[in-house]
Amino acid sequence: MSNLGNLKLWKLLSIIVLAESLYIDWNNSFEVLDKAYEAGLFVLIIGPKGTGKTTLVREFATRKGKKLESINFSLRTRESHLVGSKTLESGSVGFEHGILVKSMKEGSMLYLDEINSAEADVLLRLDEALDDRRQIVLKEAGGELVEATKGWFVISTINPLSHVGTKELPPQLLSRFPVRVRLDYPPEEIELQIVKKYVRGSHENELVQGIRLANTLRQAAAVEELYYSPSLRETIAFGKVLDSGMKPRQAADIVFANVYAQWGNVEYQKVNDIITSMFGN
Ligand SMILES: Nc1ncnc2c1ncn2[C@@H]1O[C@H](COP(=O)(O)OP(=O)(O)OP(=O)(O)O)[C@@H](O)[C@H]1O
Ligand SMILES: [Mg+2]
Repeated sequence: MSNLGNLKLWKLLSIIVLAESLYIDWNNSFEVLDKAYEAGLFVLIIGPKGTGKTTLVREFATRKGKKLESINFSLRTRESHLVGSKTLESGSVGFEHGILVKSMKEGSMLYLDEINSAEADVLLRLDEALDDRRQIVLKEAGGELVEATKGWFVISTINPLSHVGTKELPPQLLSRFPVRVRLDYPPEEIELQIVKKYVRGSHENELVQGIRLANTLRQAAAVEELYYSPSLRETIAFGKVLDSGMKPRQAADIVFANVYAQWGNVEYQKVNDIITSMFGN
């Protein structure tokens, strides 16, 4: 096929991907990611749970036609997950590359999810690869020098520090991600558009109420009046249980209220009262 033909096919494919995409880019994150990508600057996305961080990154990789390698950090993540570890096969010792090295070699997109949940010593190893030289020495594999292939790109996410299990990122690592995108809960009318993408029935008024309730709870959680802040996952789930035929009050109870019972009856009653004032008994 001619170059022109290829270009047309590529454009057609991108239009199909975008048309099918669920992601609503309400705060122009793609534009920022695009510019950062062109400039070869790594990106940090900061936002509370369930605000679309992972979905945004996945969709960006698709748009760019890049393979995405992902790792979700936790206290159990080890250096070997990133760098690799020795293997023993039929008596001979080899080395299996970890996700960081793999993505550097491939020149793919690397997604470091919840990077501030990891232990500091694991993060130290990232510093080396992410600095301007984009290379790492594998002392574990006889000192092999790995240089990143052109086009290698890294995006990481962190949850705000109030989130359980999160730690402050060491400043030198923070500086490896000079482009920072904030992804917070969207405005109510945008959240409605997002939720509607996942919901079949037309429950416009009830969805508006559910989103308003979620925002009331988020605001209370932000000033520490409540222990928990519902995410977009909950507002989407609320829409889905309405789809299944449940009444709005009961849907609000099971999706939004009951979870607070784990912090005791007082906490639960606070939320129950809010729901009664919005949805009736
Ligand atoms: N802008 C958006 N457009 C379409 N769907 C969205 C958008 N934002 C969030 N969602 C949906 O909300 C849900 C949660 O999103 P996602 O898992 O990407 O959040 P997250 O920020 O990565 O959460 P966590 O911090 O818990 O990992 C998903 O079903 C996602 O598709
Ligand atoms: Mg995520």
